[in-house]
Amino acid sequence: LNNGLARTPQMGWNSWNFFACNINETIIKETADALISTGLADLGYVYVNIDDCWSTLTRNSKVQSRPVTFRLSKFSWLVVQGDLVPDPETFPSGIKALADYIHGKGLKLGIYSDAGVFTCQVRPGSLDHENDDAELFASWGIDYLKYDNCFNLGIKPEKRYPPMRKALNATGRTIFYSLCEWGVDDPALWAGVVGNSWRTTDDINDSWASMTTIADLNDKWAAYAGPGGWNDPDMLEVGNGGMTYQEYRAHFSIWALMKAPLLVGCDVRNLTTETLEIVSNEEVIAVNQDSLGVQGRKVSVAGTDECSQVWAGPLSGNRLVVALWNRCSKTVTVTAKWEALGLDPTTSVSVRDLWKHKDVSGDVVALFSAQVESHDCMMYIFTPNTVSRYAI
Ligand code: GLA
Repeated sequence: LNNGLARTPQMGWNSWNFFACNINETIIKETADALISTGLADLGYVYVNIDDCWSTLTRNSKVQSRPVTFRLSKFSWLVVQGDLVPDPETFPSGIKALADYIHGKGLKLGIYSDAGVFTCQVRPGSLDHENDDAELFASWGIDYLKYDNCFNLGIKPEKRYPPMRKALNATGRTIFYSLCEWGVDDPALWAGVVGNSWRTTDDINDSWASMTTIADLNDKWAAYAGPGGWNDPDMLEVGNGGMTYQEYRAHFSIWALMKAPLLVGCDVRNLTTETLEIVSNEEVIAVNQDSLGVQGRKVSVAGTDECSQVWAGPLSGNRLVVALWNRCSKTVTVTAKWEALGLDPTTSVSVRDLWKHKDVSGDVVALFSAQVESHDCMMYIFTPNTVSRYAI
């Protein structure tokens, strides 16, 4: 979407993966504080996104210019009007006060609604309330909207998502628009002009099986991502406890390489050293935020069950990012061959290891191999050296 945002994939935090419905304004504020104190905010994690369950179960009784009516029978109509209301028990100070707090820290506040009659946790949705809700969000100082797909009355997402884009645009406030339509109707094909990112799959869960399946599904749409609009394989599970250190490192590496949104989904108030080390790897983040904005993809597979995988993509400055991902249950040697990377076989490259934070010694030609532990992922930047055979 050409609204000036998402020139690189969005980075920040979202409440859902760890807290689900157990959220309140204190958690959100403490999370903002933790993003600052851990240094994550300085690395680019600036969106603090509230997910489902922030609102009351019904709208208030404010009379609106265009109340929404549903015909229940020949003689009765259901008139739905009113504004969305923050739950007074969990968000007693209201969202505007929270936005002020977040902005005071130099961060941005995201909120959640649904392109249906209810959210997935059965709070009021925004279908047919797009203008009023967008205005309300803008009046609170909201910077980001995640827009879900539950209770959608069977209407196609292509029809339900554009009205909110229009409504957000009409507020005059610049608001990141994140489509959460779970890959329904292949959004990569139509969402580029609707939103800043679109979900390509169902929800992730904190397991190796879910993470690998989603990576493969998202890969299919690589050609459609770029500055302004990104494929979204869902939020990060790093730090939530269901995967090993190696698996989380692979999750983070591949999400970065795929130019996925980097939305941390754990409790950043209680980060372990390992989790912080993974999500604050500046060299991996720089791959995700590279100005060229091309989604890397799976370029070769080998071995039993095709589990020895190379994922790669171009970066600015004629460089390449190359990930050697071992999806087998034992240590294997993973090899990237120049032909799979689209390099001329005689090209010599310098190799930088993004997890060891070290240059690999010597120039490399034709192929590059490394021993990779089970489920781990090594990540490198290849910088081609001058091709001397062209010199006279
Ligand atoms: C859907 C979305 C999730 C989350 C929940 C909240 O499942 O895909 O990311 O927002 O709803 O109810």
